[in-house]
Amino acid sequence: MTRPGTTELLGMARTTLFPNYRQFPVVFERGSGARLWDTDGREYVDFVAGIASCNLGHCHPEVTAAIQDQARRLVHVSNWYFSDRQLELAARLTGLASLDRVFFCNSGAEASEAAIKLARKRSYEKYGPDRNLVISFYGAFHGRTMKALTATDPKHHMAAFSPYPEGFVHIQPGDLAALEKHLPLACALFLEPVQGEGGVHPFDPAFLKEAARLCTEQDVPLMLDEVQTGMGRCGALFAYQALGIRPDVLTLAKALANGFPMGAVLAGGELAAVMAPGSHGSTFGGNALACAAALATLDVLVREDLSSRARTLGNRFRAALEDLAGRHPVVKNIRGMGLLLGMELTVAAAPVVKDLLERGYLVTAVAERTLRFTPPLNIAEEDVDAFLQALDEALAAQGGSPP
Ligand SMILES: Cc1ncc(COP(=O)(O)O)c(C=O)c1O
Repeated sequence: MTRPGTTELLGMARTTLFPNYRQFPVVFERGSGARLWDTDGREYVDFVAGIASCNLGHCHPEVTAAIQDQARRLVHVSNWYFSDRQLELAARLTGLASLDRVFFCNSGAEASEAAIKLARKRSYEKYGPDRNLVISFYGAFHGRTMKALTATDPKHHMAAFSPYPEGFVHIQPGDLAALEKHLPLACALFLEPVQGEGGVHPFDPAFLKEAARLCTEQDVPLMLDEVQTGMGRCGALFAYQALGIRPDVLTLAKALANGFPMGAVLAGGELAAVMAPGSHGSTFGGNALACAAALATLDVLVREDLSSRARTLGNRFRAALEDLAGRHPVVKNIRGMGLLLGMELTVAAAPVVKDLLERGYLVTAVAERTLRFTPPLNIAEEDVDAFLQALDEALAAQGGSPP
């Protein structure tokens, strides 16, 4: 049977999928390491990595072998029972994060949703129904389910989805006065150490430390959303480990199983015991296949110390981006941590993304004017150098030749 070609596939996409994404007319069929191939056989070097999800690169042989092996042994049993891989992963993850217990789910939004429910329940049982406010930040992104979306920056709130759940407030990053004002009625402070979707904005570490101190003082759990920043991306296995703060609740997804759908919520101390039987659940959460993929991902991440590589390669990449910023007037600034890097432009980022795609490089645009770079943590230095050359040319095409 002949398989449909690219034109036919793109025609099928136009008529069969919900039109909820702005997609490039590229259909991928294969990936290996930092490379992807489309249905026309064209090769691309990937500085998106499934939006910071394939931190070990595409189809990492150890993760693929673990998935193949597990698929032959056991895929799914439901959470009426345990599976060996799930328990091994729970022990491994809680140990690495120095937290006590974990709940497994399938995505970042589900992790946000579960974390918010956890914080609400803990506060309700300890303080009664009034201390229910979730404090989050302008610029935040926590996912697309209703509670996760409400904690997300209000610019993502469409009137058509009203009514939104109650008990959420947004404050500006750095605004300690607003934080102090809301903490007495709060059940959680929820934040990403680096706001990824919001435009790659790292929090000021001094603000984070003071916010964490105030949370402890007011007995409000600090919930870190490390869906994008975690799993080595920012130069430590979890970004908080490089920032001198400790979460009470930690959410993970994206790179947890190197692109296999999986999410997790970890909690410490009294929060770890809050979710009693019947309070929350998921059919597929902690599925044996996902757990096998996550275990193999962690094995490689830790053994090859890819967090350190994200830090050293990230520093080198960043210095080269700074150099481009000095030479191209269209570049406003460079931001980020480890290999989660952003380049803000004075013009729209989308045309640069398109130009780079035509040159065989994948990058994303966030917050309209920012290019975001999230390559696999083990990408070759030569691939980064070649990309910087292409970026140099793409920027020159935007804003005239560099001086
Ligand atoms: C920080 C953060 N939290 C949550 C999410 C939602 O994750 P998912 O798309 O897996 O639901 C994202 C997705 O981009 C994210 O970046």
